[in-house]
Amino acid sequence: MHKDIKRILMSETEIADTVCRLADRLNTEFGDEPIVAVVILKGSMFFAADLIRKLNMPVILEFMKVSSYGSGAVSSGTLRLDLDIGTDLAGRNVLIIEDIIDSGNTLFRVRDMLSQRGAKSVKICTMLDKPECREADIHSDYIGKSIPPEFVVGYGLDYDERYRNLPYIGVLDEKLYS
Ligand code: PRP
Repeated sequence: MHKDIKRILMSETEIADTVCRLADRLNTEFGDEPIVAVVILKGSMFFAADLIRKLNMPVILEFMKVSSYGSGAVSSGTLRLDLDIGTDLAGRNVLIIEDIIDSGNTLFRVRDMLSQRGAKSVKICTMLDKPECREADIHSDYIGKSIPPEFVVGYGLDYDERYRNLPYIGVLDEKLYS
């Protein structure tokens, strides 16, 4: 385990099992309906790569880059759109893929933005959910794991751009950011 990690929250095995469970649900619920998978960079890239390869329906892959955290550990609540998708969403089923829903401010705005483009449906799939931290009125439709309000890194999640490459999800030692 990395020296900056206090404890492992999701092992590689638990991550793999969770991705399979989510993919099974999505495959059952969407059937053959095509979807546009909107991957929110950067944190979601590993989760999205694992999940999307287990989906059976036709998938258009899109990426969106937004920033809400700056370089610290606490959400600023502001959103900057750095990269937009290229697909026309009119009449399509959209699946937003995120690593974590924390305050919910990011997904609230992203969902709103995508819904206004005439999508038939907009659903959200998140690997992690921190329900106790919620500020915006939003929930994820598909959740890998609900976690307590601790600062987590790994499997795409960062602190100041570090730790994204850890293969597991771990709780960061608070001495590093407090
Ligand atoms: C993180 C995470 C979510 C968002 C969740 O992204 O990937 O997008 O914050 O927080 P919220 O629910 O409080 O809005 P970040 O802005 O850190 O960008 P990154 O994915 O590039 O790390």
